[in-house]
Amino acid sequence: MTSTSAPSIEQYLGENVRLLPQTNQLRALHTVIRDREASREDFVSYSERIIRLLVEAALDLLPFEPHVVRTPVGADYQGLRFAPKLCGVPIVRAGESMEAGLRAVCPAIRIGKVLIQRDKTTKLPHLYYSALPEDIAQRHVLLLDPMLATGGTALVAVRLLLDRGVPEGNIVFVNLLTVAEGISAVCGAHPAVRIVTSSIEERLDENAYMIPGIGDFGDRYFGTDK
Ligand code: PRP
Ligand code: URA
Repeated sequence: MTSTSAPSIEQYLGENVRLLPQTNQLRALHTVIRDREASREDFVSYSERIIRLLVEAALDLLPFEPHVVRTPVGADYQGLRFAPKLCGVPIVRAGESMEAGLRAVCPAIRIGKVLIQRDKTTKLPHLYYSALPEDIAQRHVLLLDPMLATGGTALVAVRLLLDRGVPEGNIVFVNLLTVAEGISAVCGAHPAVRIVTSSIEERLDENAYMIPGIGDFGDRYFGTDK
């Protein structure tokens, strides 16, 4: 897989894919976590800062309804509040790195789990386990996975949610790093799913790792790298 064969994703940018503003601050956070010499402590804390930005951006895509409050000086503030019932669904393992950031903003949120792993050799995803709230079909779902590479894992997770009755348009995939192949796979198959990401990488290498990328996110975050 090289950049020459990368699919075009122009049509997905903006509506289907929300890329965080590429500010100097965000680039500085990325610089720390992409450094192969980064300590595990830095990798965890800087990636969690980016995750917090992603979660806030994802929540911004959900429906709000008018809500008026009285301020301490007796005036009305014509505000907004969240309308939907929510559920966070981390794709275990790496997606669990995003759970705390979501809970920090939405303390009462329901959390489902799906355990999907890429086969080390074939890179094909295998679904091992899932646990989702019974009423998930009535909820907006924040699907959490920091890595969207070939898109195989995300497609399995989205299919599971659809089979449980979640409307495609109620799924927001919250993601730290992606690449054209992953975007094309998910948006091509599920045009109503939205993706919030902080970076679109140049290409996939022959091992289906993103370049320049970050290496294996799960291994670096959980300290299981060599
Ligand atoms: C990684 C990552 C995604 C998946 C992305 O998980 O967290 O779930 O690969 O790759 P894809 O888009 O090509 O499917 P992995 O299976 O390595 O497990 P981990 O979460 O334990 O690191
Ligand atoms: N999973 C990762 O952790 N990193 C990649 O680049 C691709 C999949």
